[in-house]
Amino acid sequence: MSLLRIEHLNKAYGSLVVTNDINLEVAAGERHVIIGPNGAGKTTLIHQIGGQARPDTGRIWIDGVDVTRLDPEQRAQAGLARTFQKNTLFQRLSVFENVRLGVQARFGRTFDLFAPVRSLSEINERTHATLAKLNLGGIAQETLANLSYGDQRQVEVAAALAGDPKLLLLDEPTSGLSPAETRAMIDVIKGLQTHMGLIVIEHDMEVVFSVADRITVLYYGAVLASGPPQEVAANERVREVYLGASL
Ligand SMILES: Nc1ncnc2c1ncn2[C@@H]1O[C@H](COP(=O)(O)OP(=O)(O)OP(=O)(O)O)[C@@H](O)[C@H]1O
Ligand SMILES: [Mg+2]
Repeated sequence: MSLLRIEHLNKAYGSLVVTNDINLEVAAGERHVIIGPNGAGKTTLIHQIGGQARPDTGRIWIDGVDVTRLDPEQRAQAGLARTFQKNTLFQRLSVFENVRLGVQARFGRTFDLFAPVRSLSEINERTHATLAKLNLGGIAQETLANLSYGDQRQVEVAAALAGDPKLLLLDEPTSGLSPAETRAMIDVIKGLQTHMGLIVIEHDMEVVFSVADRITVLYYGAVLASGPPQEVAANERVREVYLGASL
């Protein structure tokens, strides 16, 4: 069974079709990268998987659960976590506090209500463990606003990972990063737990080809091509869209 299954997804804003009959499956452990020109509908697709936008028609399953009509909080509890194209962290909170909110988004409500102290310590432990895994333990007490942009984006991924999701969605995690920060982000992505499913929207082809098991190319809201990296790179229609780019 696929971790994510999307069937016949359609969405329009007025007369602008942004999602055009998309079918997509992502297996557990798969690193799936979505590429496509600006305005192709990548973020809108991720919003529909995350519950931030509603499809007009079509259905979405996460780990066998039909989440099409669930809100983002319910989807988080079903095992979904995501980051956004723009940084959405709390600038005045510490790294630790930001990541702890990620734990609470998934587990906050399901911990035993009659053991609040124990649950708080579990939440704190999970937060520490996530920060340690991403080598962010040393900056745990820093206020977010004092960090470099590259570190902030890593904290965002940490906050998403903190809830131990089954499926993680990253919308352009390397945008605005320096080459060194981009390499650090690639390491973070490659270090993700093997059973987790991952969907990454990415423009940087070096990142695309160093992390992807499969690539889907979106073009005017529709899937232009989808498959293993070498197959997609050799696809004539994809090469036309990326004319001049070294795929
Ligand atoms: N809330 C909205 N209302 C109306 N139009 C929208 C809305 N959100 C997105 N669009 C339009 O839908 C199209 C797809 O946008 P989307 O953000 O999904 O593209 P994208 O592939 O993520 O692009 P980029 O690479 O620039 O991030 C664009 O033409 C955009 O202007
Ligand atoms: Mg986008």
